[in-house]
Amino acid sequence: MHKKTKLGVLASGKGTNLEAILKACKGKDYPAYVGVVISDQKEAPALQKATAQDVPGIFIDPKLYETREAFDQMLTLTLKQYQVDLVVLAGFMRILSPVFIHAFPKKAINIHPALLPKYPGQHAVQDALKAGEKKTGCTVHFIDEGIDTGPILAQAEVPILENDTVEKLHARIQKEEHALYPKVISDLAKKIFER
Ligand code: GRF
Repeated sequence: MHKKTKLGVLASGKGTNLEAILKACKGKDYPAYVGVVISDQKEAPALQKATAQDVPGIFIDPKLYETREAFDQMLTLTLKQYQVDLVVLAGFMRILSPVFIHAFPKKAINIHPALLPKYPGQHAVQDALKAGEKKTGCTVHFIDEGIDTGPILAQAEVPILENDTVEKLHARIQKEEHALYPKVISDLAKKIFER
């Protein structure tokens, strides 16, 4: 039996993707486990979801750091202290600086609610809807120095229906996210074993 890949999950909000990952990790043969969850929001439900399952949940307060780089240094240090093998961004609402990116080359991934390279940025669901697209979806990608620009690992499509609202469409996209993200993490975790 191989050693399991240790995940560090970064989340600012609800944490429904975190929940899906935690659920997948309970599978006997799933090759990864969540070693730590870090948030930039003290009250993030994601942190509560972590601690409820005995996973360490850590709040790093951005107000204590004068620059983005200083915050990212603390974030990097914390992830290194926990010796994570793979960093998983799940609704982490900060742009990461090169300090962080260079510390985890090809070891940090993100999920985005659009079919990248279309509709990067914070309003991806709304942007696809407004543009009159017939479909959108979600994308898992490695992070790099751009905003939602890193190499794409996998995508899932979601149709845009007549009378869709941002909320309804986002909910349908999230359902796909909750299936896609644990699958991609599993594939990557298996590759990390082979290192
Ligand atoms: C997801 O829709 C993800 O694509 C985006 O942020 C949202 C996070 O949702 N990056 P949750 O906190 O996992 O529910």
